[in-house]
Amino acid sequence: MSKFPKVLFVLTATVLGSAAAADTLGLGREATPDEVAAWDIDIRPDGAGLPVGSGSVLDGEEVFAEQCAACHGDFGEGVDRWPVLAGGQGTLESEDPVKTIGSYWPYLSTAWDYIHRAMPFGEAQSLSPDEVYAITAYLLYMNDVVDDDEFVLSNENFADTRLPNEDGFFMDDRDASPIMASADACMTDCKDSVEITMRARVLDVTPDQDGAEEMTEAAVTEESAEPVVDPALIAAGEQVFKQCKACHQVGEGAKNRVGPILNGIVGGAAGAVEGFRYSKAMAEAGEGGLVWDHEALAGYLADPRGYLPKNKMTFRGLKKAEDIDAVIAYLASFE
Ligand code: HEC
Ligand code: HEC
Repeated sequence: MSKFPKVLFVLTATVLGSAAAADTLGLGREATPDEVAAWDIDIRPDGAGLPVGSGSVLDGEEVFAEQCAACHGDFGEGVDRWPVLAGGQGTLESEDPVKTIGSYWPYLSTAWDYIHRAMPFGEAQSLSPDEVYAITAYLLYMNDVVDDDEFVLSNENFADTRLPNEDGFFMDDRDASPIMASADACMTDCKDSVEITMRARVLDVTPDQDGAEEMTEAAVTEESAEPVVDPALIAAGEQVFKQCKACHQVGEGAKNRVGPILNGIVGGAAGAVEGFRYSKAMAEAGEGGLVWDHEALAGYLADPRGYLPKNKMTFRGLKKAEDIDAVIAYLASFE
């Protein structure tokens, strides 16, 4: 003990409130219960440490738009290089894993704790517990962990909400595994030489935007024999589609993400993309014969929730008629 630097005792006495240290060493003072409480803000996976409170998906959407979207994007898609907070399901084994609470994080408590402790960036710990519950509920919704936009997260149901990748984490068992436990490392069947087969630039770790443009040009050329679609309108639509990209993909190799693939959607049946988990509302509208002609799409895109109540597209809608026309023209260029 005698070798401990004195400053440690000061910290111990003040931070931990050790009356004994304060008394024996004559240093510091006992921390007040308020001071201890201010430090003691960690939340455990079982919800221990959570304050009483609650917040809904819809309230969370509002707070998120005001306080978080400038950096993380309206839908958690991440602006520029700021972190992505939604989506990424199924990407962990890819070259470019997208790690979010929906794809990677094991425990919701980490999200609550982190947001409460550290966000918004530059104004940490300015959020009330109810705001943190609401934002966390909205993040669950954006990540498809909950389907219902009326979902309310509270200290009471917190521990019941499990994240999809919880089982992807397990206790480190390497010392018990036969390979690590055996003293002799296996050194047979090794490669003679190592060759570099690909470089980061070729791997294209940094995604470029050119692909989409080329695709549009191709689509325009292909269709030039058909009734003329104004290439400028399609190009404008591509700009508008940036607002959709966080959730929807188009073109060759498109995958279902937060939202379904939109190839061939213009003139196609609603709720019909294979492998996509639609809301009940959208699935029923499709079964009921809803077809995405220009008029239906225009109505839906102007006001997604008003047009089809209870559908799960969290998008506030396109306000300008010319943006709607343009994005429909752009979508029509993907079969
Ligand atoms: C000024 C920009 C900015 C704002 C506003 C902001 N954040 Fe962040 N956020 C960041 C940065 C930067 C990081 C990464 C911090 C780091 O790694 O140290 C981050 C990280 C996060 C992470 C962890 C992401 C991960 O996967 O590691 C979460 C969750 C998060 N922010 C939520 C929020 C929420 C919720 C709000 C609104 C209350 C918010 N942020 C507001 C910039 C911002
Ligand atoms: C935050 C994510 C998100 C954003 C942003 C978003 N969508 Fe969606 N979209 C969805 C989800 C989720 C669905 C499925 C809705 C359901 O099942 O209720 C959907 C459904 C659709 C459908 C119906 C698809 C079908 O198969 O019937 C169309 C069309 C559509 N979106 C177009 C757009 C366009 C165009 C934009 C941009 C202007 C956009 N969306 C922005 C998430 C989003």
